[in-house]
Order: sequence, then structure tokens, then C-alpha cells
Amino acid sequence: MLNSPSFFLALALPVAFAAPAPAPAAVAPAPHPMITARASLTDRTPSRVQERDVLSSIEGLGSYLTSVLGTYPSYIASGVPNFFQDFPTGSDVASSLGISSSDLTATPTQALNIPGYANWTDQGWNLRFRGNIYKQPNISESKLNDLANVFLVGTSIEALPPAQQTQARNLTAEIFVVQQGNVNVTFNLEPAASQGTDGTSGGSNAITPGGGAQNITIVGETTVEGDFDQFIPLANVSGPGGYLLPGNDTTSIQRVNVYTNGTDTGNATSYLVPPAGLTIISDIDDILRITKIYEPEEGLLNSFARAFTPWMNMPDIYANWSNSIPDFHFHYLTTTPEQVTRNYMDFIYKTYPGGSFDTRPLNFSDVSATLSIRKFLLEKIFQTYPQRKFILIADTSNSDVMKDYPAMVTEFPGQVQCIFLRNTSATDSGDKFPYDTSGFKNISQNQYMFFLVPDDLTNLDIVNGQCYNATIKQNVTFSEQGLPFGLSKKSAAGRVSVGWNGVMTAGLAMVFGVLFGVL
Ligand SMILES: *[C@@H]1O[C@H](CO)[C@@H](O)[C@H](O)[C@H]1NC(C)=O
Ligand SMILES: *[C@@H]1O[C@H](CO)[C@@H](O)[C@H](O)[C@H]1NC(C)=O
Ligand SMILES: *[C@@H]1O[C@H](CO)[C@@H](O)[C@H](O)[C@H]1NC(C)=O
Ligand SMILES: *[C@@H]1O[C@H](CO)[C@@H](O)[C@H](O)[C@H]1NC(C)=O
Ligand SMILES: *[C@@H]1O[C@H](CO)[C@@H](O)[C@H](O)[C@H]1NC(C)=O
Ligand SMILES: *[C@@H]1O[C@H](CO)[C@@H](O)[C@H](O)[C@H]1NC(C)=O
Ligand SMILES: *[C@@H]1O[C@H](CO)[C@@H](O)[C@H](O)[C@H]1NC(C)=O
Ligand SMILES: *[C@@H]1O[C@H](CO)[C@@H](O)[C@H](O)[C@H]1NC(C)=O
Ligand SMILES: *[C@@H]1O[C@H](CO)[C@@H](O)[C@H](O)[C@H]1NC(C)=O
Ligand SMILES: *[C@@H]1O[C@H](CO)[C@@H](O)[C@H](O)[C@H]1NC(C)=O
Ligand SMILES: *[C@@H]1O[C@H](CO)[C@@H](O)[C@H](O)[C@H]1NC(C)=O
Ligand SMILES: *[C@@H]1O[C@H](CO)[C@@H](O)[C@H](O)[C@H]1NC(C)=O
Repeated sequence: MLNSPSFFLALALPVAFAAPAPAPAAVAPAPHPMITARASLTDRTPSRVQERDVLSSIEGLGSYLTSVLGTYPSYIASGVPNFFQDFPTGSDVASSLGISSSDLTATPTQALNIPGYANWTDQGWNLRFRGNIYKQPNISESKLNDLANVFLVGTSIEALPPAQQTQARNLTAEIFVVQQGNVNVTFNLEPAASQGTDGTSGGSNAITPGGGAQNITIVGETTVEGDFDQFIPLANVSGPGGYLLPGNDTTSIQRVNVYTNGTDTGNATSYLVPPAGLTIISDIDDILRITKIYEPEEGLLNSFARAFTPWMNMPDIYANWSNSIPDFHFHYLTTTPEQVTRNYMDFIYKTYPGGSFDTRPLNFSDVSATLSIRKFLLEKIFQTYPQRKFILIADTSNSDVMKDYPAMVTEFPGQVQCIFLRNTSATDSGDKFPYDTSGFKNISQNQYMFFLVPDDLTNLDIVNGQCYNATIKQNVTFSEQGLPFGLSKKSAAGRVSVGWNGVMTAGLAMVFGVLFGVL
């Protein structure tokens, strides 16, 4: 009895059901998985998970839960193993470092300039400018070590090899920047040289426009968090080689360099993308790089300390697409926080074709962004290109992907060409997190594929809508699946329906793992 899965399901599932429903009085409303309250910098103890109390009361599970859920902060227990959470912003940074604004006066202003995309409108090219203005305080190595240790739950910087210590300090320094609100930002634009089509170079035969050099100032000042994000029409100015090509008269993607005036830290290449054509929207963690976000210890080190490493031969797949698909627009969309964008860009542009970028903005005041960052970012790019078709790619360990990617099929009819999902549960026994395939129920099999290795994507004619490699067995139940020992089958049969958004789902997955001796 004790070893039978159904026994534990019977015990544990009512809790899972209860969690996403209107919260019981004792339990705080479940935070949206992608956003949690800011960490208190002085409190070094991982926050106690309120939901844990509910589960701990279940006889026999208490000590296990205390060990798993007590070791890692609430973001693990709330079902989203995202290690880049709870970053300080604004005055929290300055106060935690003991610095005043006058200490920073002499420090140069820096700019994070996130490579943008432009659409063709009645006003001409309309380019998205997005990024952040900040100052980097001079933080001593020992202070950086202390700060890094806040993030390195379960280990410490002293325990890491030197190269990983350097990387952990680099990331920590990027997080502890003082964002500059109420700043005017000006950019200097000029045509960007094409750099070929391989991984290191911008990709997809994007071309150099003949003209278009101009200065552009964003409308208004940066937000209190130092962010800016707006579309601004480009003037049609001539250069030595002529003009920008109009979007209604070319299928080519044009590259422009966008330099932030007054600093050499804010250079980016942005893309003028014609109305029709094919865009790939690619997630990064566990599809383009090895993160193992679903294995707490590995995910933490891969996020904070180890050098970013490509996942298998994915770079070859992207290089082939970049070389063989004419005018293919690459867009990298990750919900990793803006503060670590540079590290992601640095890795991507050394390894994969060049393209525009999206990361999680600091400013959560927009309600739709608060509810769902990924959905918000996806809708923004779909709305910008109502005639383009999109290839969406990620892995099954993101609960928002599993919901938002298939939702695009109905929300933007005819615009989703393919959805590719790497099934991390199938190939990685360390992935105990269930994934919900119910969103795919009404989508034609030829439009999506759950795959195992990059080679499964070879020889597919994605331009003509061949998204499914018939040699890859799919096993999709259109329900919650991926729990150890085929528990998903019960789920499919309607006996069990573990809500992925339930705050305890991840905890449950791990509980199952331990109870069945597979962790
Ligand atoms: C940072 O501070 C250290 C000592 O606190 C000093 O030696 C170093 O020159 C400073 N660096 C910069 C760039 O100001
Ligand atoms: C930003 O520019 C506007 C308009 O030119 C000006 O009124 C404002 O004072 C500037 N703000 C700062 C902080 O320089
Ligand atoms: C942009 O502004 C700079 C001064 O900051 C000036 O030197 C440059 O000529 C301007 N470029 C254009 C295209 O107007
Ligand atoms: C800019 O103007 C030139 C000259 O009128 C025209 O040939 C070109 O198509 C225009 N380009 C854009 C992007 O509007
Ligand atoms: C492109 O759009 C511009 C401005 O809207 C228009 O003047 C021009 O005739 C169009 N060109 C083509 C090839 O449709
Ligand atoms: C660019 O910044 C410099 C100071 O760094 C300033 O003198 C110049 O006017 C700025 N250019 C524009 C176009 O804002
Ligand atoms: C940014 O571009 C400017 C102008 O080309 C260059 O001088 C500077 O070195 C670049 N900055 C970086 C970090 O590459
Ligand atoms: C951290 O590393 C990235 C990527 O190598 C680099 O662009 C960035 O300037 C570094 N940041 C700091 C604060 O050293
Ligand atoms: C261009 O993009 C903006 C911003 O997403 C959008 O509001 C607008 O409708 C788009 N215009 C066209 C013609 O697609
Ligand atoms: C399908 O996947 C297999 C195994 O990864 C691969 O060899 C093959 O090239 C893929 N493509 C097609 C169209 O079969
Ligand atoms: C490369 O990509 C093209 C375009 O999608 C496809 O037709 C071809 O089969 C791919 N080649 C390999 C080896 O995957
Ligand atoms: C489907 O199930 C088979 C048998 O368990 C497994 O080998 C395969 O990896 C699964 N496929 C996917 C895409 O998960």
C-alpha cells in the first residue's frame, strides 16, 4: 500500500487541487510563477514556503518536504525552477551596497541596448528601442562574494573553481547595478555591415542598407527602473549607398547598428524585418544551452557559475536554417531577467545566428506583463508582424511555454507555422517536473513536434510547413504528463489532474521521485 502510487496520489492530490483555487485563508495567493516578491537583501535565510505547511501536515512527508523545500527558495516550490529570481532593483541595490547617489556621480553611465526589430508601416520603418540605463558601482571582491552567496543556495562561492567564481561575480555585479530613471537617451544609427550567415555573424543573409544614418532620441525619459521600450519611426535619410529599402519592396532583412550616445556599452544591431516571411522565436535555456533548470543543483550552477554551453548540436541546426532559409528572421525570446541579458546575448551571438532579443523587462506595471511575461512578449512580436509566420521553439520544462505557445495558434490564426518542444522529461531522468500537453489537443500533428535530440529536426522542410518528423514517437496524452512511473496515464484517464500551476506541483513531483526511490 505504502509503495503504491495511488496511495500517495490520494493523499497528496487534494492539496494540489486546492492550491490554484481561491486561496485558503492561511495560504497567501499563489504568486504568478514568473514573478515573486523581491528578496530582502539582508535576509540570507531562504524564504520559508507557506504552502509547505499545507503539505507538511500530510503524515510521513514532512521531513522530506522540509529538506527539499526548505533548502531552495520559494520559486522552486512554486513550480518554476527559475534561478534568476528575486533580483534587487532601484534603491534596494544602493542601500544594500551602502552607497549614496553622490558616490555614483563620477561613475560612468552605461546602457543595456537590446537588439530590436522594426516593422514597415505607413510612417516607414518603425523600430523598437528597448533597454536600460544604469551605473555599475565599484564593488569589492569580498562584497561581491558575499552577494553571490545569497544566490548560491546550497553552495558558496568559496566552494567553486576559480573560473566559476569569476562568472558568479560577473553575474552578481550585473545584478547589483543602480538603474537610472528620468534620463534622456539618444541613439546614433548607421547601416550595419552584413557578416555572413554562420553562427557568429548575424545570420540569414540580412543585408546592409545603403543609408539611414540618423540620431534618434526616445520620447520622454527612462522609467524609474531605468528602462525604455518604444517603437519610433525612422527617417528615410540617404547615405553613400542610397536609402533604406522600403518594407513593401523587399523581402530582405536589413541590419542597422544602434549606438547609445555617450557610452560605448550600449551598442546593438537591430533588424528591419519585412511584413511577410518566416520568423523563429527561440527560447534559450535547455534548448540552445544546457541549463537543467529542472534539476535544482545543476540549474543553479549552470545559471550562476558555469560558462554557458550549447545543447548538443543545436548550433548546427540553426546554422543550417540560417544558411538555407532565405530571409529567415531569428528572434531570441527568454523570460530571464533583463539584468543578465548581456550574458545571454554574449553566448547567443558567439554560438547562434544573429537576431533580435527579448528578456524580462524590469517594469512590471503593465498588467498583462505582470500576469504573463512570455505571453506579453509573444503577443507583442505577433502583433508587430500580422502577416509573418512563426516557428516557436523551447522545451517542456517551461509551464508558460506549454500554455502560451499553443495559445498563439488560436489567438493568431494562420501565423504559427511550427511548434518544436524538446521533451526534457524523456531524455533527462533528472527532470521530474510534469508538463501539460492539453493545449495541443486541437492542433494538427503536422504543426508541432515533441522531440528528443537536435538531429530530430534535421531534413524537415519547415518553410513548407513540415514540422513533424514521423520517426519520432510523440506519446502526447493532451493532459499533465511526465510524472515518474507513468503517473500521467492515470492523469489522462481523468483520475488525476495535477494542476501545473498549483503551487505544490513541483514539490509533488519531487516527492514522488523520492518516495519511489528515483531521485
Ligand atoms: C574600485 O575600488 C578599488 C578599491 O576599493 C580601487 O582600487 C579601484 O581602483 C576602483 N576601481 C574603479 C574602476 O574605480
Ligand atoms: C530630457 O529632455 C527633455 C526635452 O528635451 C527636457 O525637458 C528634460 O529636462 C530632459 N531631462 C533630463 C534629465 O535631462
Ligand atoms: C548624431 O549626433 C552626433 C553628435 O552626438 C553627430 O556627431 C552626428 O553627426 C549625428 N549624426 C547624424 C546622422 O545626424
Ligand atoms: C526613401 O526615399 C527614396 C527616395 O524617394 C525612395 O527611393 C526609398 O524607397 C525610400 N525608402 C524608404 C524606406 O521609405
Ligand atoms: C510602398 O509604400 C510607399 C508608402 O506607403 C508607397 O509610396 C509605395 O508606392 C509603395 N511601394 C510599393 C512597391 O508598393
Ligand atoms: C551625445 O552625447 C554627447 C556627450 O557625450 C553630447 O555632447 C551630444 O550632444 C550627444 N548627441 C546627441 C545627438 O544627443
Ligand atoms: C561600440 O561602438 C563604438 C563605435 O563603433 C566602439 O568604439 C566601441 O568600442 C563599441 N563598444 C563595444 C563594447 O564594443
Ligand atoms: C560579464 O560578462 C559579460 C559577458 O561576458 C560581459 O559582457 C559583461 O561586461 C560582464 N559584466 C561585468 C559587470 O563584468
Ligand atoms: C507595427 O508594430 C506596432 C507595434 O507592435 C503595431 O502596433 C503596428 O500595428 C504594426 N504595424 C503594422 C503595419 O503591422
Ligand atoms: C528525423 O529524425 C531522425 C532521427 O533523429 C533523423 O535521422 C532524420 O533526419 C529526421 N528527419 C526526417 C525528415 O526524418
Ligand atoms: C537545412 O534546412 C533546410 C531548410 O529548412 C532543410 O530543407 C534541410 O533539410 C536542412 N538540412 C538538414 C541537414 O537538416
Ligand atoms: C515516447 O515514448 C517512447 C517509449 O517510452 C520513448 O522512447 C520516446 O522517447 C518518447 N518520445 C518523446 C518525444 O517523448
